[in-house]
Amino acid sequence: MKILAIESSCDETAAAVVEDGRTVLSSVIATQINEHKLYGGVVPEIASRRHCENIVGVTSEALEMAKLGFEDIDGFAATNSPGLIGALLVGVNFAKGLALAQNKPFIAIHHIKGHIAANYITHPDLQPPYLCLVVSGGHSHIVKVKSYTELETVGRTTDDAAGEAFDKAARAMGFCYPGGVHIDRAARLGDKSRYKLPKPHTKNEYDFSFSGLKTAVINLLHNNEQKGTETDVNSLAACFQDTVTSILTDKLISAAINLGYKKIALAGGVAANSQLRDKLSEAAKKHGLEFFMPDISLCGDNAAMIGCQGYYEYLAGNTSDMSVNCFATGKLHTL
Ligand code: KG4
Ligand code: ZN
Repeated sequence: MKILAIESSCDETAAAVVEDGRTVLSSVIATQINEHKLYGGVVPEIASRRHCENIVGVTSEALEMAKLGFEDIDGFAATNSPGLIGALLVGVNFAKGLALAQNKPFIAIHHIKGHIAANYITHPDLQPPYLCLVVSGGHSHIVKVKSYTELETVGRTTDDAAGEAFDKAARAMGFCYPGGVHIDRAARLGDKSRYKLPKPHTKNEYDFSFSGLKTAVINLLHNNEQKGTETDVNSLAACFQDTVTSILTDKLISAAINLGYKKIALAGGVAANSQLRDKLSEAAKKHGLEFFMPDISLCGDNAAMIGCQGYYEYLAGNTSDMSVNCFATGKLHTL
């Protein structure tokens, strides 16, 4: 079964053709980052307009790369939640139009389920159940992946998402948007023991809280500035990243052990973080857990992961009718 998938929840307009959930025949991404960078973050109005301009081009390119026409596609999938509402509407309505014109099913996809599904592309043998840490610009979740389509949230952030904390701390350190990757690079040149940062506590042991940590970084920078003391930004990046990745690693590993999981996985934009990948690989080995993470190219927003999840939703009978809407927020376990 060949699915043409569209992803337009934030600042990437993406299209892909995926066969039987696991084989990516093509994947095209038009990123808007350079434009949003000027404003220090994503401007929703601009994002929607760029999706409108780019969607026909990326879809045509995805079909061309796969050497297919619309008539060869068996189903059309698009992210319908969560994300910027104007941005989601562009992708969903475009995909609905194609499904209607071709008389083929339309499949609405939860973005976070898509991120998790990126693992199925990198690891053809991976099958649920497993426990997954999903860390992106908008989410930090520990999720029980019970089947390809049934998930249950075990822990979540009580304030900022991990990626959001990376981006806000990076901005305070003088890096441009999105800052996660800049912190990752700077941290390699710094000393992770130079500054002391807090590890916030949460009521639920598998929940996360990153806003106190972000504020500690901002306060340290302001205090040094007021005193005329120079901040070693590389070391501050190293301390911040080490603290965040330790929290994420410790919580996922202890959740896996306590909940009896032998398989764990990582997903979302922050899954590209080199220290997080290393720490989780080492910790999994130490505790005898099998660990899966997507190829770096599949961590950020892309449509291949949406096509993959689309296949499993289709198999489960979860197609949508033409009245399906988009949602800026969307509960993971209800979709
Ligand atoms: O999943 P994603 O592409 O978009 C959302 O669904 O939010 O995630 C984007 C987030 C941004 O916050 C970005 O800074 C972060 O992923 N990110 C990273 C790295 N690469 C991207 N964070 C830390 N280290 C990285 N190497
Ligand atoms: Zn994402």
